[in-house]
Amino acid sequence: MKTYLVTGGAGFIGSNFVHYMLNKYNDIKIINVDKLTYAGNLENLKGCEQNPNYVFVQADICDKEAIEDIFKNYDIDYVVNFAAESHVDRSIKMPEIFVQTNVLGTVNLLNIAKNNWETKDGFKAGKKYLQISTDEVYGSLGKEGFFTETTPLNPHSPYSASKASADMIVKAYFDTFKMPINITRCSNNYGPYQFPEKLIPLLINNCLNKNELPVYGDGMNIRDWLYVEDHCKAIDMVLNEGELGRVYNVGGHNERTNIFIVKTVIQYIHDNVDSTVDESLIKYVEDRKGHDRRYGIDPTRIKDELDWYPETKFEVGIVKTIKWYLQNKEWMENVTSGTYQDYYKKMYNNK
Ligand code: NAD
Ligand code: TYD
Repeated sequence: MKTYLVTGGAGFIGSNFVHYMLNKYNDIKIINVDKLTYAGNLENLKGCEQNPNYVFVQADICDKEAIEDIFKNYDIDYVVNFAAESHVDRSIKMPEIFVQTNVLGTVNLLNIAKNNWETKDGFKAGKKYLQISTDEVYGSLGKEGFFTETTPLNPHSPYSASKASADMIVKAYFDTFKMPINITRCSNNYGPYQFPEKLIPLLINNCLNKNELPVYGDGMNIRDWLYVEDHCKAIDMVLNEGELGRVYNVGGHNERTNIFIVKTVIQYIHDNVDSTVDESLIKYVEDRKGHDRRYGIDPTRIKDELDWYPETKFEVGIVKTIKWYLQNKEWMENVTSGTYQDYYKKMYNNK
């Protein structure tokens, strides 16, 4: 029975991963460690609490004692580090917390895992640390080409710079100590349980409330959209079969401009929910500082080595996603109340 230490499992991708794994396997144990920042929400894990194979611990990944306690209480086989400050706009306003959690938190986890897994004859068998990273560490693409795992790192935002720093530390633990690690770098995820500061749930929420839809710059920036369940499947495969020390890019061939996404969401809500919702809600606002123009992943390595491919076409995934938010309006109301409201007002009212 494998025991997983999942960090940030109350956030968007982490909670999808916990659900995915508990649905797929009944012979694993998951210890979910989350600080429960504004982005972490235990409602995302409804249904898991009753599962005897699931444990929740509220803790900061930077907290040495708390993480050591978890390793004392459980024989951890896999660490899957999702915990992070994850929003680019926030990183422009408050970079320090991104370095704290994303860099120092990662070093803390690596150090404690290493201390527990290393013996005088090397690392115990069957252990692995997986860092969940992002394609944003590669910087921005022009019209042509894709990110491969050998594209040089060239992050631009404080968020992507903190993720690139963490990746370098994880790599250093492999190069220096031969610690068993993998790094995955995925593109923009979408799906259920995403906090509505990110583009797609923000658009859905604002359409339903007839609020303006802020489009940064000319709306022609491109992201390569990955349905979150496809991502969870890739993570499971990398944990089980990924070659130690290797980076795997996850995503590919679902590139869309932001304005296309905006118009797609408007069209769906117009046709299926409220015919008064239309493109008059679009508001072009000042561009994000240092806004990366295009991300696009070449998924050849993960396809060739692990036989993974992004199965969900954007047209299918976006409908599934919008339907989920329509069926979970109470979730949206809960996560957008309180601190989020204040945060949202500050972010968008001074644009
Ligand atoms: P999220 O913001 O939805 O969730 C982050 C979670 O981490 C929250 O539950 C939060 O409470 C927790 N957390 C934050 N600081 C913590 C700390 N110090 N200690 C413990 N827990 C803490 O993020 P997400 O979108 O689910 O992203 C998960 C991971 O995937 C991140 O590492 C992010 O960089 C990476 N990633 C995300 C995307 C995306 O499109 N969402 C794309 C590429 C990479
Ligand atoms: P976001 O969801 O914040 O993800 P990331 O910055 O990590 O790619 O943003 C996705 C794209 O949408 C990005 O190009 C910025 C743009 N965007 C808007 O135009 N308006 C918004 O309100 C938000 C949140 C993002």
